[in-house]
Formats: sequence, structure tokens, C-alpha cells
Amino acid sequence: MKIEKFKVEEWFNEYESKAKYDLADTCIDSISLKELLNLAEIDDIGEILDKKLNYGDIQGSLRLKTAVSSLYLNQNPENITLTHGAIGANQLVFLSLVEPEDEVISILPAYQQHYSIPESIGAEVKRLFLKPENNWLPDIEELKSLITPKTKLISLINPNNPTGAVIEDSLMKDIISVSGGAYILADEVYRGIVREERFNTTSIADLYERGISTSSLSKGFSLAGLRVGWVCANKNIIDEINHQRQYNTISVSQIDDYFASIALENKDKIFERNLPKVKQGYKILSDWINTEPHISCVLPSGGTTAFLQYDMKVSSYELCKKLLSDTGVLFLPGETLELDGFLRLGYCNDADKLQTGLSIFSDWLKQVS
Ligand SMILES: Cc1ncc(COP(=O)(O)O)c(C=O)c1O
Repeated sequence: MKIEKFKVEEWFNEYESKAKYDLADTCIDSISLKELLNLAEIDDIGEILDKKLNYGDIQGSLRLKTAVSSLYLNQNPENITLTHGAIGANQLVFLSLVEPEDEVISILPAYQQHYSIPESIGAEVKRLFLKPENNWLPDIEELKSLITPKTKLISLINPNNPTGAVIEDSLMKDIISVSGGAYILADEVYRGIVREERFNTTSIADLYERGISTSSLSKGFSLAGLRVGWVCANKNIIDEINHQRQYNTISVSQIDDYFASIALENKDKIFERNLPKVKQGYKILSDWINTEPHISCVLPSGGTTAFLQYDMKVSSYELCKKLLSDTGVLFLPGETLELDGFLRLGYCNDADKLQTGLSIFSDWLKQVS
């Protein structure tokens, strides 16, 4: 199966290790196992040390699926299947549900899986681009105009990466009402990471019978190294996904399953640790935007990223490469997300690095513009 190059991941492979101030990372200050066990007040992990490392429960332990289902309103362990990260979850959804004769509507800018995988399957992918003048939210009339009887699936990210826009429940219900019965895949890897409680949303799996939620521990839980993700949807959809899943997953590592269960069982403590970091990063970002004449931004409501628009006549790839080689500051070029003239900033990782990196960037902008 031929597939486009994954531009975001290629950028990170090439440049992340060269950065002194990595302002592109989307995780919230990752957690070590020691910190996780301290937060969870666990001092004895004998049960995992004694466990024989066979495949374990093929679809993931009941303990972990129960913990995942607690993130939803009306979902049970049978509505969950565990995957290798959200990246594995999204891939499985597309491979399970989309056929070459289908149409898919993908809402961009987005993580590239959401359009390149269905394209690689041979489906017709219609790209609906969000616009800053609409606060990066989908326009319902535009969406409606793209839907046909062949629309199999609508895919979106909520909160959005890179813009941080949040589709609140009322707008999501409008999307559902014009969907014509298509599946809606909501990549909810950033759900719960919000700067104010009013931006918290209900999962698509709890709003819509054909809604499919994918998520993981990478972002809000600061545990990307565990490589645990999941799909949550109605039982029929999960059965179809499990059929496909036999071919590329078998099971999630028992070690990851164990620590992931601990993390989810202590989700409130992890969010208590993380939300102040999100708010602190947001404050640094918004104060900086107010004083930086070359950058504009629709400030994010959720997630860990912001999409910065710059006023220079240079491509985002060129700008990011030159900035990195001159200063060591790393952003993600908007072109990797199909929108030139923008840079993606991850603002929740390390507050000191963010503050220093943004001020170095401002000095650089003064010199070059
Ligand atoms: C929107 C989105 N979906 C999925 C992923 C993949 O996440 P994971 O580390 O859980 O595989 C990312 C990673 O950046 C992402 O931003």
C-alpha cells in the first residue's frame, strides 16, 4: 500500500534532536515511572515483576479497559479496544471501515493520518479547511455541502491539533445532525486538556451511536512512552476493529497495560498536576502574543498547541530551518500540516524553555524583518 510521507513525523525525525529550545513538542512535561508511582502512592509493584511476559489478554486487560471506560459517560469495557497509541487507534479505524469506493471528509489542519490513510486506501478524501476568521471551527454549511450518500466517515480532531480550537457539544451536535448517518471519527487525544472548564466536552462516543473516539495516554496523561491508546465506540464497530486488529496488534505489552491502568486509576491526580502547567503555558503564550508585532494567533481553548501566523514572505519550512540554525529554537512548519504561513507551537511542555525560546524568537524576528 503506497502512502504519502508523514510530514510532521519526518520533520521531528530530522530536526528535533538538533533543537536547544524545542517549542514543537505536543506533550505535557512527561512523567517518569517513579513520579507515576509516587502520585499513585504505590510502593510495591511486585505483581508486575512476577508476571510471566506472555501476550497477556489479547484485547487488553479488563482492568485497563474498565479504567479507560471511566473516561466516558456511558461506555463499558466491551466498547473499548486497546491499541499501540492513538496512532494505532486511528489507523485501525480507517483500515476497518473505509473502502476504495467510499468518500471521507477530513477536517484540516489535522494529524496527517486523518487524510493520508483513507487516501492510501483509495477513498475519495474531501478536505475541509478550518479558517482563523471562523476561530478555526468547522462551518456547518460548508460541511453539509460536502456530504453525499457515499460519505462513509467524517474525521476531525477535538480539541484540534494544531489550532487548539474546541468543538463544543452544541456544534458537535450540529455536525452529527448534518452527517447523513456517516461515522464520525473524533481523535480525542487532547480531550480534557482545557484552559477553562467550560471548554470540556462530551466524547463523540457518548453523543452519537456511530461516533468513534480515539485517544491515548500520550498527551493529557504525559505518558507517550507507554504507547497505550484505544478506540471507544459501539460494540459492532469495536467488533469490526478487532477483526482488523488481529493483523497488526495481537496485544498491547503487559507492562504498558499495567502502568497504564495505574495512570488511569489516578487520572484526577495526573490532571491536577497537568492543568496548572497548561494554564501557565497559556499565560506565557498570551502575554507574548500581546507584545509580538510579527505574530498573530487565535488563542487555543484546549489541547497543547497553538497555530501562529507570521507576517514574513518566506515559506514555513525555510523560516523554521533558518530559525533553528540561527538560534536553536524549534517550531513545526505549517506546511507539514498543509498550511503555509503558520508555525505550530507546543506550549505546555516546559515553561522556562517556552519563555526563553519565545523571547529568542522575538529578538530574531526583529533582526530578520
Ligand atoms: C491528533 C493526534 N492524534 C494522534 C497522535 C498520536 O498519538 P500517540 O502518541 O498516542 O500515538 C498525535 C500525536 O501527536 C496527535 O497529535
